Order: sequence, then structure tokens, then C-alpha cells
Amino acid sequence: MSKYIINGGNKLGGKLNINGAKNAVLPILAASVINGKENVIIGYPNLRDVNTMVKILRSIGCKVQKTPESIVINSENVNSFEVSENLVREMRSSIFLMGPMLGRCGKIKISYPGGCEIGPRPIDLHLKGLREMGVKISEAHGFLECTVEKLKGSEIHLDYPSVGATENIMLAAVLAEGTTVIRNAAKEPEIVDLQDFLTGMGAKIQGAGTSVIQIDGVKNLTGVEHKIIPDRIVAGTILASAAITKSEIIIENVIADHLVSVLAKLKEVGCIVLEKNSAIKIIPPSVLKSVDIIRTLPYPGFPTDMQAQFVSLLSIAKGTSIITETVFENRFKHIEELIRMGARIKVDGRVAVIKGVPKLTGAKVTAKDLRGGAALVIAGLAAEGRTIVENIVHIERGYDNLDIMLQNLGADIRKID
Ligand code: UD1
Repeated sequence: MSKYIINGGNKLGGKLNINGAKNAVLPILAASVINGKENVIIGYPNLRDVNTMVKILRSIGCKVQKTPESIVINSENVNSFEVSENLVREMRSSIFLMGPMLGRCGKIKISYPGGCEIGPRPIDLHLKGLREMGVKISEAHGFLECTVEKLKGSEIHLDYPSVGATENIMLAAVLAEGTTVIRNAAKEPEIVDLQDFLTGMGAKIQGAGTSVIQIDGVKNLTGVEHKIIPDRIVAGTILASAAITKSEIIIENVIADHLVSVLAKLKEVGCIVLEKNSAIKIIPPSVLKSVDIIRTLPYPGFPTDMQAQFVSLLSIAKGTSIITETVFENRFKHIEELIRMGARIKVDGRVAVIKGVPKLTGAKVTAKDLRGGAALVIAGLAAEGRTIVENIVHIERGYDNLDIMLQNLGADIRKID
């Protein structure tokens, strides 16, 4: 199993280009099934999850060519309606195939995505929305079998602004008969990117980025070429790495608007953040300040995907900080590892109380999930001595060569296979 070896204490410096967003490219790859045409996706991150989605697309009959610059998907000959259990187990985002396959073919059989490393992640809101559009769903032997004669536009109110449910319902609605309105929709930037991709192929959608999205079903779609938006979580992770090592760096190819809540908290800990065009420069203080409270919330609130990285950062801030995780259960697994590195953190349910310590010390730690793993790397950059982060397979699901990105900024980190 691969691991990262980090010798902490190096200052970072220089510039880094941020790649395309994982959470944008996954639903967009699935959406390529809808039009039965050739679609070109550029600026994509080279991740394990992207490769899994490519495998899934091939397994149902799509032709996919992947080069360093682009992924070209031809979905003319979709000839299978079943997504293999192994692939769903490998990646939960395979459920994004439901909306597009139901729109295009009227059926899909997919194994039920189980719980995952950040707690139970039900898909009841996805299923409720699809049922309201006329889909018949039966659950047996761990599989979901979904069929529909013709999807019908519907008024759908989400009980919670789930990112995945919003996307799945949008995808189903593109080819449905009539108009679908999603209320209490999630507002994440990745949903706007999905809307842009779909309207590029001729779909009629408006409202992504607000809590009401309207989709007027169409009959015909064309092929599309689309560039993926930059990854705001990778950008935030790199900014946190700069802040914890008290290093000035510049990140390029970012949309600062997508990072407003993260930048606000970086300013609260004492960083100067300068935005210019599509770049952000961060100038951290010599001593980080604690923050009163961070609550993870749906966008534009503070992202749950940045919670772990901020726990690392605040663990060496002066004073006591409180972080409340409201989006997912069981998303504090990094904390027991950080405690091994000398952090003073108490967890009570969904609340973590972090008492800043002057320094962390290197230790052997294990990545238990994607963002929690990244948080351990960040801690290792600032810790005294050597940190070994094991099980980095989790980290590689969402970061395209995190070690190389950090090496390019001057960190002493290497990967051992
Ligand atoms: C997406 C992101 C993930 C991010 C999360 C929250 C992708 C591929 N992943 O995940 O990185 O952490 O948004 O910003 O885009 N829920 C239900 N029923 C449902 C759906 C969700 O109860 O049918 C609950 C979940 O258990 C969770 C909360 O709603 O507690 C948020 O989930 P959701 O917004 O759906 O996240 P994902 O789309 O899974």
C-alpha cells in the first residue's frame, strides 16, 4: 500500500495551477450518456474516481478516449443497463448514471451504494425525486431496478439541498416530457457547471446556483465540448497548506467567488488574501489565530469538504476553536490521528473543540477518508520531524498527485509504493 513520507518544517513558495473539479467532472461524465453523441471534456483532473467513471461508461457501451488533455466520450451505442456491483462499490458517484440512463433508455439496474467511510449516505432524496417523475423502483438483493416508460416533468421539493439528488434529478429532467422544477435545490458551483454542460448540448435549464432550478424537457440534443471548473476544494487545501506552514504562495486558475466562505475563515486566522483575475495570493501571519466557530453547511456555507483541513490548521492556532460538522455524520476520523501528532482536540458528537498547541510532531498516521487524509498531509507539512501517512489510496481519489503539487511548492514529501 502506498504512503506519503513527509519531513515537516519546509517553507512553501511559488505558484500552483489548480486543476478541474472532481465533483464537477463526475456528474458531467455520467451526463455524457444522455445525448448519444460525441462529447469532449477538457481540463479534467486525473483521478482514480474519474478512471472508475470511465470504466463504467465503457461497461455500458460508450467509447471513451482519454488523453492528458481531454476525455472524449461517444455514447451512441449504449447497450447495457446494468452497472456492475464492483464499480458501484468502488465509487458511490456511479449513482449519477441513474438520471441520464432513465432519460435515454428508460431503465437502469445498479447495485445499492452502501454506507461509506464518512457515515451512512442514503439516496432516498434521489429516489423520491425520480419516483415523482414516474420511475418505478424496486429494491431487491442489494440492487435497484429502475424503469420508466417516459419520464414526466414534475415539481420536486427536496427536504434537504442534497448536491447529488439535485444533479440526478436535473439529469433525469433533461429528456423528460414537460417541465421539472426543483425547489430547495443545492447551490454548489458544480451544479452550475453541470447546467452549463447540459445547456451546451441543447438542454433547457435555468436557475442552477439558486435554490430553484427549472428544466424544460427537450427531444434532441447535440454533442458538446466543455471545460471543467477549477476544483475549489483542492484550491482550499493548498491554501490551508500555505497557512499552516506560514508560507506565501499564489494559486492560479481559481474562481475566488467559489471560495468565499473558506477565504473568510483564512482571513479570520490572520491570513492576508489577495485576489487578482483568476489567481489568489495568500500571506499567512507568523502566529495563526483561533476562530470562534466554523459550521459546515451547504454552499455558500463553509464546505464540509474543507472541515478536516481546517481542523489541522486550527490545531496550531493560538487559542480555542470550535468546528461543528452539520452535513455528514462520522466525519471526524482524522482527529484521532491528529491527536497522535500532538493536537489537543475533544470531539462530542458533531462538535470538535480544538485547543491550539505550539507545534505538532511527526507520527505514523492513517488516512481514513479523502479529505481527512489530506488534513493529515497538511499537518505533516507543519509538524516537527517525519510524518508517514498510510493508506493514501483515499487521498488519491480526490487529489491529482497531491505529493507532486506540494513538492513543486517546496514541500519535502514523497510517495512510496
Ligand atoms: C457531494 C460531494 C461531496 C460533498 C457533499 C456535500 C460529489 C461527487 N460529492 O456529495 O464531496 O462532501 O456533496 O457538499 O459531488 N442525504 C440524504 N439523502 C439523500 C442524499 C443526501 O439524507 O438522498 C444527506 C447525506 O447523507 C448528507 C447530506 O444529505 O448528510 C448531504 O449530502 P449530499 O449533498 O447529497 O452529498 P453528495 O452529493 O453525496
